[in-house]
Amino acid sequence: MVILVQTTAQLLAERAKNSKIGFVPTMGNLHQGHISLLERALTEYKTVYFSIFVNPKQFGPNEDFARYPRTLENDISLIDKLTQRFPNSKVVVYSPKDPQEVFPENADQLISVWGLSTELEGKIRPGHFDGVATVVHRLFKLIKPETAYFGLKDYQQYMVIRQMVKDLNMAIKITGMPIIREESGLALSSRNQYLDPEQKNTSIIVSQTLKQIIKKLDGKRDNISKAREIIQEILNDSHWNYLEIRDSETFSLNTTSSNNITILAVYQLGTTRLLDNMQVEIQ
Ligand code: PAF
Repeated sequence: MVILVQTTAQLLAERAKNSKIGFVPTMGNLHQGHISLLERALTEYKTVYFSIFVNPKQFGPNEDFARYPRTLENDISLIDKLTQRFPNSKVVVYSPKDPQEVFPENADQLISVWGLSTELEGKIRPGHFDGVATVVHRLFKLIKPETAYFGLKDYQQYMVIRQMVKDLNMAIKITGMPIIREESGLALSSRNQYLDPEQKNTSIIVSQTLKQIIKKLDGKRDNISKAREIIQEILNDSHWNYLEIRDSETFSLNTTSSNNITILAVYQLGTTRLLDNMQVEIQ
């Protein structure tokens, strides 16, 4: 069963009927990546809350807030299709029509996770992670989930949310779910639809480069400095916004005692930034 609520009053009334729930926050325009989060949530909870809200606070002034795809009807039918495989389950879709439902006037706190939010993606998009942390905090307060599910494609976002929950002692389990890719290797993203056919062909460079670096690493910590030299050469192509190796657990550039590392990348094609990462165990 799928229930759509479009005001916070309706959301809270509905929430009062359920006890432990899972929660999947999204900005809509759903693809298989989002559906994999919902599927996991439905295997763990009978009732799952699913938000669809294009959060104005996480877009910079020159970003794509206005043209971000809004496809509620199609999103609901995808959710409905999946939910039919879980006959005793309920999915409550919270899709507020008016941003004021989420951010009422005079309720203007800003949640900022220091350090993590100003590095890498946060350096290129100042304020972005504050916008993300602020909306997720607000949604957590309204929805009070036991577990919330995030895609690991936005690995830095996942780290920011995890840190926020830890810092604020929120009793919410954060589950990260693997990236879903097209056959070409391109990580699924709502923004991929901005790519023209030529850009789509070029886009495979991102996953191919990440794989190439993993191959060079060959599971060995000692190979990281060589891999970083190769990365420096790759970065001569100015399409790369960044390509970095970081410790998966601490997000630090210091990988001298890392057991698992994440290679994070953004490759820009026109105005579309292709965000991707891959993780690998090292010894
Ligand atoms: O990953 C997203 O879609 C968004 O950043 C999130 C977590 C739903 C917050 O608006």
